[in-house]
Amino acid sequence: MPGDRGFDYDQRLAKERETFAGQHELHLDLPPSAHHWSARHLRPKFDALGIPGIDELIIGEIRDRARRAKRDVVVLSLGSGNGDQELGWLRALAETGDVGVRLRLLELNPDMQDRAREAARAQGVEDRVEFILGDFNTWRADAGHDVVVGFHALHHVLDLEHLYGQIRDSLDPDGVLVVHDMIGRNGHRRWPEALEVVERIWATLPPRLRRNAVTGEIDEQFDDLDCAVDSFEGIRAQDVLPVLLDYLHPSLFLGYANVVDPFTDRIYGHNFDLSDPGDRALLDHIGDLDDSLIDLGIVTPTHLTALFHPAPQPLRVYGNRTPERSVRDTSLVDPAGRVSFRPNTFPGERLVSGGGLVVGRMNGLYDDGWAAASAEFPLLTTAEVRRVRLRTYLPDWMPGGTMAISLDGVPVAKAEVGRGLVEQDLPVSIEAHRTLRFVLDADWSVNPAGTGLGSDRRTLAYILVGLELLGD
Ligand SMILES: C[S@@+](CC[C@H](N)C(=O)[O-])C[C@H]1O[C@@H](n2cnc3c(N)ncnc32)[C@H](O)[C@@H]1O
Repeated sequence: MPGDRGFDYDQRLAKERETFAGQHELHLDLPPSAHHWSARHLRPKFDALGIPGIDELIIGEIRDRARRAKRDVVVLSLGSGNGDQELGWLRALAETGDVGVRLRLLELNPDMQDRAREAARAQGVEDRVEFILGDFNTWRADAGHDVVVGFHALHHVLDLEHLYGQIRDSLDPDGVLVVHDMIGRNGHRRWPEALEVVERIWATLPPRLRRNAVTGEIDEQFDDLDCAVDSFEGIRAQDVLPVLLDYLHPSLFLGYANVVDPFTDRIYGHNFDLSDPGDRALLDHIGDLDDSLIDLGIVTPTHLTALFHPAPQPLRVYGNRTPERSVRDTSLVDPAGRVSFRPNTFPGERLVSGGGLVVGRMNGLYDDGWAAASAEFPLLTTAEVRRVRLRTYLPDWMPGGTMAISLDGVPVAKAEVGRGLVEQDLPVSIEAHRTLRFVLDADWSVNPAGTGLGSDRRTLAYILVGLELLGD
């Protein structure tokens, strides 16, 4: 809800202050797997786009403007934390004689802001730095800016529209917003299409790679934690990019990482032993898979490094990773949290009723109701099942035949399926609260385009009208 600061806004703000109050070093405890992945998968993309490094990119943007301008350039850093990084930019610029730079640090946390002030004083640059203690959801730009930096800050913003508006209106026409941030699902969760891949990888991992650093437990299931439950961590991460595109124009755009995240994060990433060739190979393999999934458009990036401007610019992107292809369409999630390729319809809810739920992906069943010769899905029974009421439809041109039903690979029933609308009850017994794979195998199928029966190029067997799970 853009701009909506609900009843728990102040509690979240307090949590945000509490979380960061004692954090003296924010980037130190990244696991070795993150550094390994970064060297192997991120560095080449940076190289391809001519990005020397994230700090060097920021320093370069400041330096260019400092040399063009006949005045001091003004740099604003959003959620600047302890200010270490920003003071490092000033030092690097001073080394090349670029001293006409003023820094503005916008930070919510007074403890962090005090540490930044102390460090600026110690480095003798306090007169070049302005400390703004404020909330970027309500902060109003009271100065013009040449460079604005959002470094791991934008995913903490609730009122993105307000903040982006302030940035756009205060940016010099030649100004730039440098973004280095998280753009995945809210709360840093996986979207269903990515979760499915992570879960499949998870199922192959030895226990030592599934140890949760926070709980110390071995996680049988990947813990798709929602970090935004009670704080601003990832509160509108999925909106960071699409809303930004409404306000500013990119000139450099690199989106990266998705399914690799859980294997390089602070919860599970430390489990990888990089001196073990097997662990290294697995990590590299997941990194390669992740890149392919992003390049194919199956998943969308969760991280972004980019430059944005007030006016349209020629755009440099990595491969086919354009801004448009990097935006996840957030309307395509059903209430069960699974992906649906048509908004508001999840075939599982439409097709299966009675004493069970479809709890995962349905294979071999199309959105228009047609089924392939083999169709299957994971079923969770909510009550004892004694019969399955099968409803099918076959047009006149479809031959029909015998359908076999099996559960977890065990055949349990057979049905003769003929033309027209057919409803039949099949004796199938399943206990309540079981999860199993429900498989329907037809011994006939037709490819309409291949057999001159129309233009449909799919190989089809019947239209599944419904499956009702009934008790006695
Ligand atoms: C993940 S940290 C990043 C800090 C720093 N940019 C870095 O990368 O080291 C997010 C920062 O945003 C600050 N922050 C969170 N919510 C804020 C708000 N509403 N207004 C201003 N700063 C905020 C936090 O206090 C914290 O310093």
